[in-house]
Amino acid sequence: MATYADIEVRPGKRLETERWDGPTYQDVLDTDDRFQHTSSIVREHRVVDLGTEPVSAKRYTDPAFFAKEVEHVFLKTWQYACREEEIPETGDTYLFDLVQRPLLVVRQRDGSVRAFENICLHRGRKLVDHGGCRTNFWCPYHGFTWNIDGSFEPGPVAWDFPSIEPEKFGLKEVQVARWGGFVFVNYDPHCAPFEDVAAPLPRHMDYWMIDDVYKAAHVGKVLNANWKVVQEAFLENHHVGVTHPQVSPYTPDANAQYDILSDHVTRAVSYHGIPGLLYDGPPLSPAEILDLAMKNGNKAGKPAGLEFGPEMTERHFLAMTGRKNLSERTGRDLSNRCDADFTDGFSHDLFPNFHIWGSLATKISYRFRPVGLDHEKCLMEVFLYKLAPLNEAPPPPAELRMLEPDEPWSVATDVLGYLSGVYDQDESNIPFVQEGLRALGEGPVHFGRYSEIRCRNLHRMIDRYIAQGEVPASVAAG
Ligand code: FES
Ligand SMILES: [Fe+2]
Repeated sequence: MATYADIEVRPGKRLETERWDGPTYQDVLDTDDRFQHTSSIVREHRVVDLGTEPVSAKRYTDPAFFAKEVEHVFLKTWQYACREEEIPETGDTYLFDLVQRPLLVVRQRDGSVRAFENICLHRGRKLVDHGGCRTNFWCPYHGFTWNIDGSFEPGPVAWDFPSIEPEKFGLKEVQVARWGGFVFVNYDPHCAPFEDVAAPLPRHMDYWMIDDVYKAAHVGKVLNANWKVVQEAFLENHHVGVTHPQVSPYTPDANAQYDILSDHVTRAVSYHGIPGLLYDGPPLSPAEILDLAMKNGNKAGKPAGLEFGPEMTERHFLAMTGRKNLSERTGRDLSNRCDADFTDGFSHDLFPNFHIWGSLATKISYRFRPVGLDHEKCLMEVFLYKLAPLNEAPPPPAELRMLEPDEPWSVATDVLGYLSGVYDQDESNIPFVQEGLRALGEGPVHFGRYSEIRCRNLHRMIDRYIAQGEVPASVAAG
């Protein structure tokens, strides 16, 4: 029986910044290839060296630095607003809030989606308090009204406002992009197209059948930390060995695979079959690893008629199990999908604050937003997207369930499953990180050169956006 201790380590495959001595994910995939060829998406591995320079703790605690992030990052980047299925009919409106710049995201008569600033242009009242289906946007203060395409509808007191030219008094529009059922918005009228910025995420997520999913769960909680502190807990697996020791026997931590797929898109691969570097328990047999992997995680259990046989690896058995369960649940033929598609998770992020996992059964997704203009509060949202059964209308999208500050994630176990306990473990660090960073002042924060490269990339891109935004107009023009 093959085990992962048998995997030959080939130094020739090692990348410059990938220094650990054990087998890599690509080595593990070589064993999968004995059963079924792995796909090019799974085989992709792109690491660049972003150096080892520490960053200042002030970046998490300084209101002045946060103000720069608001102006040059949040108001200049593509932000996930809502799902297409949340605004299916003409006039359906989703309210999106970011850094005190509320938006209306509205389905138009021609099926397109447009987004407008949710501000009455008379005297500045927030125009709409609730989402839902609208025939127009009517301000509850004095009744100024705009159509769902943002155009102004002059009212009976128009005679008293000679300063207003109705045809120039439309709601302020922001950019919209639609991909994979997601609606993204961008406040910057001069932003780069979503397709350019997000590549190669759409190509990767096409592989994971993103067009065929529905939103099965949506849970949010405000955490007392800077948005980067919260997000960074989901950008590296290094912490897994200590913070989530229950998965350490069979999944890597600092020795996971990390990819810089582009400036804006990075990836970590969480896979089954190799213990974390921080695992210090007894060596486990394939059967024990299999047992643990089946117990932890959103596994549907071992289906009848499948047995762990000779010449199998536990990954192959897990893949057969996952393939059979998912095929039966969705009525889809998944026989041509490789083993890794059922055993591993591919956690992507799109700069600056949107995460989505590539996997077949369930895609975990996160969004991290500052709460208003508070640099030490972050709304973390968890979304689960499930592959829809073939030829069946998917269930309606799950609505946001907000947790109270003192409620653990585990009160949402009914929708988040085992992940709720994982998030409680993650949250056990987050406010204490913020507390420590405050005390560090301008002291250094260190990122692992390989294992925490996605955190470093986040900071690198923030700096790039701030630098671009601060270029004097005369220099930019010249
Ligand atoms: S503030 Fe909206 S109508 Fe006056
Ligand atoms: Fe975690």
